[in-house]
Amino acid sequence: MTAKTILITGASSGIGAALARAYAVPGNRLMLWGRNEERLNALAEQCRARGAELEIVRFDLADFSQLLDNLGASDTRNPIDLAIFNAGLGGSLPRDRVAQDVHAAQRMVNVNFTAPVLGANLLAERMAKRGQGRIVFVGSVAASFPLPMAPVYAGTKAGLALFAEAFQLRLEKYGVDVTLVSPGFVDTPMSRSLSEPRPFLIGADAAAAIITRKIERGARHIVVPWQFAVIRALVNMVPGVIMRTVLTQLSRLPFGE
Ligand SMILES: NC(=O)c1ccc[n+]([C@@H]2O[C@H](COP(=O)([O-])OP(=O)(O)OC[C@H]3O[C@@H](n4cnc5c(N)ncnc54)[C@H](OP(=O)(O)O)[C@@H]3O)[C@@H](O)[C@H]2O)c1
Repeated sequence: MTAKTILITGASSGIGAALARAYAVPGNRLMLWGRNEERLNALAEQCRARGAELEIVRFDLADFSQLLDNLGASDTRNPIDLAIFNAGLGGSLPRDRVAQDVHAAQRMVNVNFTAPVLGANLLAERMAKRGQGRIVFVGSVAASFPLPMAPVYAGTKAGLALFAEAFQLRLEKYGVDVTLVSPGFVDTPMSRSLSEPRPFLIGADAAAAIITRKIERGARHIVVPWQFAVIRALVNMVPGVIMRTVLTQLSRLPFGE
């Protein structure tokens, strides 16, 4: 792997922290973004011990002017080769609610969709001028399913997936690559908070090893664990009416009650 300047959002936990550890090698400069000071500092110590150079920036990604200012300033200081927009907010709808609380829905849309889309647009202009760079979006396999238990989450990830695909086509001629990562269930605080079962669960470090290896090979879409790529392909063959019935029944099961 050639030395790189790598930005990771949501580095203070789960998949983002595991990606930071995976990229923490001598010669790499890591820009780790998140909010939780304690977890970011502990991670920074681990990454420095592995020989990486470190820069930590703490702020709320839903503050879009801070996001754009920080991104512009970081990229001017050290041009970013690889930007991983990983931060996200998850969670299923509480059973006693009809729909999502509007403030919670707004935060989810801001963090899962708007922040990566704004950040990627700003960075793509700069990377295109340099004629190189890779932008990675961490979406979800939830993008492929109209989940009644998490409609806002599924919607933000579906929007992000389509944006990533369109951006990929658009940026190709400028030498900028785009990768979409679609995790299934990865063992992190986010998935641990779900009451539903977590089939084919994979550890965060194992997922990060697969993701970094495939990014290095230039993959455009990474589904991890792989079983979810098979499930997605099979589900695409199922008639819509059957899919809707199954998902409706699933959302009525009393998981965790
Ligand atoms: N785990 C899974 O099974 C799974 C499955 C599908 C997709 N994904 C996706 O994978 C990505 C990482 O998830 P994870 O499982 O690693 O979750 P996680 O352990 O809960 O970590 C989420 C990260 O996002 C950051 N974040 C959330 N809101 C933020 C905000 N407003 N401003 C700045 N940072 C914010 C958190 O920072 P702080 O903690 O510092 O606030 C944290 O570092 C997400 O996009 C998620 O949707 C995960």
